[in-house]
Amino acid sequence: MAERKASRTAVLVCQGRAAANERLAVGRFSDRVAVHLLTAAERVPVEHVRAARKPSGFGEQLEYELLTATSEVMATRTVMIDDAVRDAAHPQLVILGAGLDARAWRMPELSGTAVFEVDHPASQQEKRERLTNLAPKAASVRFVPVDFAVDSLAEALAEAGHDPDHPTTWIWEGVVPYLTPEEVADTVSKVARLSAPGSRLVITYGTPSRTASLGRKTVEALLALARHPNPMAAEPNRSTWRPAQWQALLSGNGFGITDDRDLLTVARDLEVPSSQGKSLAVGRVLVADRD
Ligand SMILES: C[S@@+](CC[C@H](N)C(=O)[O-])C[C@H]1O[C@@H](n2cnc3c(N)ncnc32)[C@H](O)[C@@H]1O
Repeated sequence: MAERKASRTAVLVCQGRAAANERLAVGRFSDRVAVHLLTAAERVPVEHVRAARKPSGFGEQLEYELLTATSEVMATRTVMIDDAVRDAAHPQLVILGAGLDARAWRMPELSGTAVFEVDHPASQQEKRERLTNLAPKAASVRFVPVDFAVDSLAEALAEAGHDPDHPTTWIWEGVVPYLTPEEVADTVSKVARLSAPGSRLVITYGTPSRTASLGRKTVEALLALARHPNPMAAEPNRSTWRPAQWQALLSGNGFGITDDRDLLTVARDLEVPSSQGKSLAVGRVLVADRD
């Protein structure tokens, strides 16, 4: 099997946050760190979207549309997740599949929180190189390399100093679609075993939609036609979920769902535009608390 490379979708969503910063959901969303995690080449399409300047090449135009839609999703889901993290105010935050998440470097509310960044080793290594000399705002940041499909989450977190006897907020943002249903169920049961009463699990997921999956396939085909790099090429979607399935899985693992909303509704409340309503409509954020 080919050695797995660092996640490209992690770069795409980081570009989305950099493009949305102080433009979308102003006053509720901001991520000034995102741009610092990008290379000079990765910042170019971000600047196009920020300036609402459509580039001339076909591939670049596709990238522009993809990034515009991504920035709308990112601003919206980040507001919901950040609110859930602040509201819980737990002493430990575990970010599962952290990618280029900048919360530990941008949220002053984490000054008393130990943050554990769990990610696939290749993605995590690349993030550490990109961080250069950024100083975290969190009390501490520990990097925990884990492949959900093969490694032991419990062992890796214990080694990093996570204490399962104290409440934890878990963020699982933009990762579930890339895992099989079995890997998702297995990870939920591992998370449950490491969650003291009151712990919180925040999950983003995609609901089944033929239109959305056709839309993604079309974008991928057009990117190939334009010979433009496709950030989704090596990371196929492996699972979609309905709210009732989460209800069953989470309640079976001792979590009660306290919030579960579609992103289009949240975007409308935040006055975030929806240039591609479908990307927002199929995405959901749920918050569940441990009994
Ligand atoms: C779209 S990115 C999301 C990153 C971050 N959570 C965010 O929202 O910015 C997907 C992330 O899932 C991680 N991931 C996917 N499959 C994984 C696996 N089997 N084990 C660990 N991490 C995985 C990737 O390394 C990547 O960081």
